Amino acid sequence: MTATNLIDGRQIAAQILDELRPRIAALKSRGVQPGLAFVRVGEDPASKVYVGRKEKTCAALGIASTTQVLPEQTSEADLLALLARLNADAHLHGILVQAPLPRQIRAEVVYAAVAPAKDVDGFHPVNVGKLMLGDPTGFQPCTPAGIRELLARSAVKTEGAEVVILGRGNIVGKPMAAMLCQKGRQANATVTICHSATREIRAHCRRADIIVAAMGVPEFLKADMVKPGVVVMDVGVNRVPDPASNTGTKLVGDVAFAEVQPLAARITPNPGGVGPMTIAMLMQNTVRAAEAVMR
Ligand code: GUN
Repeated sequence: MTATNLIDGRQIAAQILDELRPRIAALKSRGVQPGLAFVRVGEDPASKVYVGRKEKTCAALGIASTTQVLPEQTSEADLLALLARLNADAHLHGILVQAPLPRQIRAEVVYAAVAPAKDVDGFHPVNVGKLMLGDPTGFQPCTPAGIRELLARSAVKTEGAEVVILGRGNIVGKPMAAMLCQKGRQANATVTICHSATREIRAHCRRADIIVAAMGVPEFLKADMVKPGVVVMDVGVNRVPDPASNTGTKLVGDVAFAEVQPLAARITPNPGGVGPMTIAMLMQNTVRAAEAVMR
């Protein structure tokens, strides 16, 4: 396979953002500017970068954004008080609390405190439940929704496909499984979730038509773990030592890209694959949240 097997996440994300522009213009013509609040707790460098990218995309689209930064030692009660204010602010249609959160704060309590109608992350139990039930009125988590969109727009058939998801996290693995096993279009897959207690991960992966790598282990998926013609979606963002680089580190995915790419029918580059889609789907959820208040 050559470089033509790459799935260009930047290009597909740009398409999705372009599709949102007329919807945002229509909202503005009715006096509504979509508004999104970011909440960041502490100074995690990666979170700063991610929130920065999301803010920039908001600005480029004409979505109003505000970022609340709380100190690392913030109590759960203070964060909940902030969320209550953001929930009550009619100019804000979406709220995103960037993960990971410091240890003293229980993520499940925080995500349950975001109003479900503003939960553009899709982490509130009501939205998680709707995803499990196949109810499209909820918000769905942005990274797996972005991967589903990448598959759809790259004409990768999921119906009847064997999908292996590496990782069982609440942000990617579990919602990804719920999406792809639903009865319906761009779903209908046979899904296996593999995790740290799975025996024979290699055997599961070698059966897979589609692999979603989202367990956070640098370059875990190797060439001898995939069958030729596999479709690979790499969610991983791992910083590893690299003596050759100025900074002494580099970012790699969960896929040993150089060796897996030649075997794959389609594969996401990393960066430039799944990452931009997460942001595009966040913007889409925010526009939907704003449209919902117009109805
Ligand atoms: N951290 C990594 N991915 C995400 C995401 O999709 N949403 C939030 N809020 N935090 C994250």
